[in-house]
Amino acid sequence: MKIAEAFNSQLNAELYSAYLYLSMSASLSSQNLPGFATWMRVQTKEELGHAMKFYDYIIEHSGRVLLKAIDPPPTDWAGPLAVFEHTCKHERKVTGLINELVNLAKEQGDNASEIFLQWFVSEQVEEEANVGKVLEMVKKAGNSASASQALDRELAKRGQAAQ
Ligand SMILES: [Fe+2]
Ligand SMILES: [Fe+2]
Repeated sequence: MKIAEAFNSQLNAELYSAYLYLSMSASLSSQNLPGFATWMRVQTKEELGHAMKFYDYIIEHSGRVLLKAIDPPPTDWAGPLAVFEHTCKHERKVTGLINELVNLAKEQGDNASEIFLQWFVSEQVEEEANVGKVLEMVKKAGNSASASQALDRELAKRGQAAQ
């Protein structure tokens, strides 16, 4: 596969991530968890930022951006535990995709692409750590309504920090 084609696929994958997290945010809002919803909304913005990094890189390197259909994300999750288990799984999958891109760039001796991708390699380490941390907090809160409410207030802070 050519790098340009693979980067277009990754652009689509980042847009799907944004779509997935926005859908999670909507689901969490409907469950009266505004803090969790805010956290996912900020995550959505980050994924859009990732998508635009690929968009700009493709154009800067004389490629052609070709936007494809974005798969519809699921719409319902049972609660924060299901959301964050899904998020952890999804981020591990994205890490795999980034690693495949790095291997492709190496195979083709494309140093510029390999260097560009290093940011994403580091970003995925951070993303997996962040979502893993929230998953642990959700597990700790368990079925306690008061602990879940406290965690919801805690996660709302990500929205304030992102403004
Ligand atoms: Fe991403
Ligand atoms: Fe991500």
